This record gives sequence, C-alpha cells and structure tokens, in this order.
Amino acid sequence: MDAAARRVTVIGTGYLGATHAACMAELGYEVLGMDVDAEKVAALSAGRIPFYEPGLPELLAKQVAAGRLRFTTSYAEVAAFGAAGPGPAMHFLCVNTPQKKGEYAADLSYLEAVAEGLAPHLAEPALVVGKSTVPAGTAVRLGERFAALAPAGHDIEVAWNPEFLREGFAVEDTLRPDRLVIGVGSATAEAELRSLYAPLLGAGVPLVVTDLATAELVKAAANAFLSTKISFINAMAEVCEAAGGDVMALSEALSHDTRIGGRFLTPGLGFGGGCLPKDIRAFMARAGELGVDQALAFLREVDAINMRRRIRTVDLAREQCAGSFLGKRVAVWGAAFKPNTDDVRDSPALNVAAQIQLQGAQVTVYDPQANATATRIEPTLVFADSALEAADGAHVLLHLTEWTEFREIDPAVVGARVAAKHVVDGRNALDPDAWHRAGWTYRALGRQVR
Ligand code: UDX
Repeated sequence: MDAAARRVTVIGTGYLGATHAACMAELGYEVLGMDVDAEKVAALSAGRIPFYEPGLPELLAKQVAAGRLRFTTSYAEVAAFGAAGPGPAMHFLCVNTPQKKGEYAADLSYLEAVAEGLAPHLAEPALVVGKSTVPAGTAVRLGERFAALAPAGHDIEVAWNPEFLREGFAVEDTLRPDRLVIGVGSATAEAELRSLYAPLLGAGVPLVVTDLATAELVKAAANAFLSTKISFINAMAEVCEAAGGDVMALSEALSHDTRIGGRFLTPGLGFGGGCLPKDIRAFMARAGELGVDQALAFLREVDAINMRRRIRTVDLAREQCAGSFLGKRVAVWGAAFKPNTDDVRDSPALNVAAQIQLQGAQVTVYDPQANATATRIEPTLVFADSALEAADGAHVLLHLTEWTEFREIDPAVVGARVAAKHVVDGRNALDPDAWHRAGWTYRALGRQVR
C-alpha cells in the first residue's frame, strides 16, 4: 500500500458499503472494509461480491489486487488502521437501517452496535461519517454515544454524508453522483470531507454543505419525493382506467413539461426494494415523533396507492383467467424489485407471484438474476431456467420486472409455448402492437388496450 495515501475505513459492506469501499480505493485511498459477517468478508477479500451489481465485481477485484482494499471483521483493526494513516482517521458507517418489525420506524440497532464495537478502540481523534439512511437527530445522538464510549472522547466527531446510489447503478452513482451532501458540525469536518471528495468536486459534482439534521432529512426527502412521483402517475393510471384514458400517453405529455420531467414517471406495478418503502415509513414515524405527522400524512396515501398496484395487477391476471386462478398455470417474468439487480426485498413482482399462487394457481417464475434470491424468500414457487420455459402451458403471462431480455423476446415464439395468449404488462414496457399482431390479448395498468 502507498504509505502516504489517506486511509478510509468502511463499516458495513452490503450494497452501500462494498460500493463505497471499492470506489474510495478507486479514488486512490487505502481502504479497509469491515463487516461482522465473516462469510461476506471472506468473499470480498477474495474479490467476490455476494450479490449482483453491474461493474462492481470488476472494480472490487481490481482494487483488492492492487492492495488498496482489504476487509476485516475486527473493530480493533479498523481503529488501528485509521490511526496509522496521515491525518485524522475517517470511518464511514454504511450499515443497514431496516424497518422495525411491526412498526414504521427505522431500526437503528446496527448503527448502535457499531458505536458499541468501534468507539472503545478510538484513542485518537477521528471523523465518523454516517452514510446510512437515518431519522433526523440520529447523528447528534450517535456523536454523544461515541464521545461517551471512546477514549478520545469529544475528539471523535460525527458527520453525515447521505448516499443516494441506486442499485444497478451503484458504481456510476458513487463515482459520478448528481450531488454530494455533507452535514457537519465543524469547519474541520467540512474541510476533511471536501479534501476526501476533491476528485469528484474537481469534476464538477455539486456539493451542498448543511447541518447534521438537514443532511439526514435530504435523504428522506429525496426518497419521499421519488415515491410520490411514482405514486402520482400510478394514481393517474387508476383515473385513466376509470375515465377511458391512456396513462402512457398522459405520462409522455406530462414529461415534456420541463418543470415535471419524465424520470420516475413510468406507471406500473410501483416501487419496492430495500429503500423507498421503508424510508417513507420511517420518515412518517419520525415526523410523528417530532409532532409534525400532518406534514407527511400524504405519504400514507403514496404508500397505499403503491400497494393497490399489486392488488390491481393480481385482479387483471385473474380476469384473464376467466375469474379464477384455480387449476390455472401462471407465468411470471421477473422477481427482482427492478431490473439490473438480484434484490428481491419488498419486490412487487415476487409479491404478486406469491399472491397468485395463494389464490390457487400454479405459478412459474423466471428472473435473469434473481431466481436464487427469490427462491430463498418464496420456496414454494416454481422457478424456471428461461423466460420461455416459464411460459410453458401458461394461461396468463405476467411481465413484472422490466429486464431488457423480456422486451427482446418475440411474442410469436412465446405464443407457441403457452396454453392461452393473455399477457399482463405490469411495467408498461412491452410493445402492445407487437403482442397484438402475434394474437395476444394485452392488458396493462391504466390503459384501455386489449
Ligand atoms: C432508491 C433511490 O433512487 C436512491 O436514490 C436511494 O439511495 C435508494 O432508493 P433503488 O431502491 O435502488 O434506489 O431503486 P430505484 O431505481 O430508485 O427504483 C425504486 C423503485 O421504483 C423500483 O421498484 C422501480 O421499479 C420503481 N419505479 C421507478 C417505478 O415504479 N416507476 C418509475 O418510473 C421509476
């Protein structure tokens, strides 16, 4: 390792942490990643990523081979590694903040565990930088915890630097983000983070410097806005269905208004994944604690619209099966919560597949990357090795995750494999004309096309 390079540690090596660690090494820093999961650490140390994320395996392998990136399970090693570098140590917190069981609020126990585990080893001044999505107020509380537990006391400062990366584009979003946000309590922390991110700032990435609470809120607000945009267009889909309109044309017309824009305005089965659903719920819970629950009451509706999309998709499929799933074979294309990932956390596609199976159909699912992760969550579903195999003998075909592979399949070829040519396009991504020409009935949320 280059003895002069700044040292960075990254605690928690899931999507966020593994990507951040590899990208910090790519920027030229010496990086030590830490995780309590020894299996994950072993895989990463061997240059292997235990999940699907385009571009990350290559970057990780390159940086591990270059000696700039290592992994450990030891907090003592994290502290020693940071203390041995030039300048104050910088420790990034990238652990998960899932939804609490049976509640809307975020579960901060992993962050608390990091404070308990790391702080007792911090004898030198250090900057602890949170990247996880957290309720406003967390950074201040965590700072107090570190100060109380660390031998260096108040020389341990906590800053917040929320991460906005999208799965499937994690590397791109980390090395070329739309913006950087840093919440700091001191000019020193700001200077340290400015210097760390100098390569990105030099490339023109906008930087917004805030207090700690604002930085925490920016992330919650961004996810709330994105969810609202998706649920807005999906609410329009409901109105279009009732009024005889076409939500795809409506969305296109809205998108030309530069104040609105077309991104996150694709109607369909709605949002899922490990972030948006739990983040809007945690945001509502925090607003309640702060006494401003009315300010975010609309997010309940955003969540409800989103959940109705799943029910409506099941209804459309049932209609195609003459009113009952009993004894019917149903093909489902897609299990991941969106394309280019194998993540099935709160996946609308998998949720719809499971609901249809519960209602008596025999459901066969195919996803280009997520068959394995989906099998762990829904072991009673049948998983096929190809899109065509999933379609064999089906009475209705559901397109629920918009992988490019599905759009490239010739509807006539699928038509030769199914028992009945009914397709439900849960993502409004197939070409209705092409499917019609091949003799299919085509149904989609918010559209009149049959
Ligand atoms: C999201 C945020 O985009 C990211 O900034 C944050 O850091 C984490 O949460 P991610 O969960 O990776 O990222 O997924 P994203 O690409 O935002 O998609 C979220 C969901 O919305 C997916 O289920 C997707 O299918 C759905 N979606 C997206 C729509 O239904 N319609 C759209 O127009 C866009």
